[in-house]
Amino acid sequence: MSLTPLIVGNWKLNLSLVQALQQIEILIREMPVAGAEIAIAPVVTQLSAACLKVQGASLKIAAQNVFYAAKGAYTGEWAVAHLQELGVSMAIIGHSERRQYFAEDSKSVALKAKACIDGNLTPIVCIGETLAQRRANETQNVLLEQLEPVLEQIPENRRNQIVVAYEPVWAIGTGQHAEPEQVARVHEFLRAQVGPSTRLIYGGSVKADNAAELAAVKDVNGFLVGGASLDANSFLAIAKVFSSL
Ligand code: PGA
Repeated sequence: MSLTPLIVGNWKLNLSLVQALQQIEILIREMPVAGAEIAIAPVVTQLSAACLKVQGASLKIAAQNVFYAAKGAYTGEWAVAHLQELGVSMAIIGHSERRQYFAEDSKSVALKAKACIDGNLTPIVCIGETLAQRRANETQNVLLEQLEPVLEQIPENRRNQIVVAYEPVWAIGTGQHAEPEQVARVHEFLRAQVGPSTRLIYGGSVKADNAAELAAVKDVNGFLVGGASLDANSFLAIAKVFSSL
């Protein structure tokens, strides 16, 4: 099955509104990238302005998080429908920073993924092992523990609506990306779990100078890019490796 590559820029807690809109302007001007889908995930307060800015362009806007309930007494949260009404089309779910600093567990990640699917928002479900877990040969178990609750919520005929991002925690923001062979082994394992229709993207220190070798790995259907996505030109250089494959 040929899957359209997806390259997502996760801006995390960076960039002012003015800076974000400047970067979006460059992205719109320099896009499209043939044969690939591109999204950026700004700070939540910037989503509305970002969605207005990309109107009529092919750049998509993603949220960095979303809650699973549709409404109720959940101070500080927002629902899928709130993202929908702005024009947001994707949401990153279960990023390791949220698991680490905000105590997100795989069960709530699964509920969030389900809420996204039901509300026609594409969830980008992040999973990944720590260095200690990798060294202890626990990588596959950890990934299964994170992924299985999600797959239980999403029947096979809807798996094309989710994206799974493999992000080894030790590679995030460290400048030390996973080696292509390591990525290949994990993505082969994940492909066997999710089936043929789910896009599997890799994240963790993806840069313009390592993007080509990582993009060439079988079953790598795109990237989730942090630091290198903050500059529109470096992000586009990464995205463009998929159009030459
Ligand atoms: P990084 O972040 O590219 O800066 O390693 C990736 C991510 O956290 O999604």
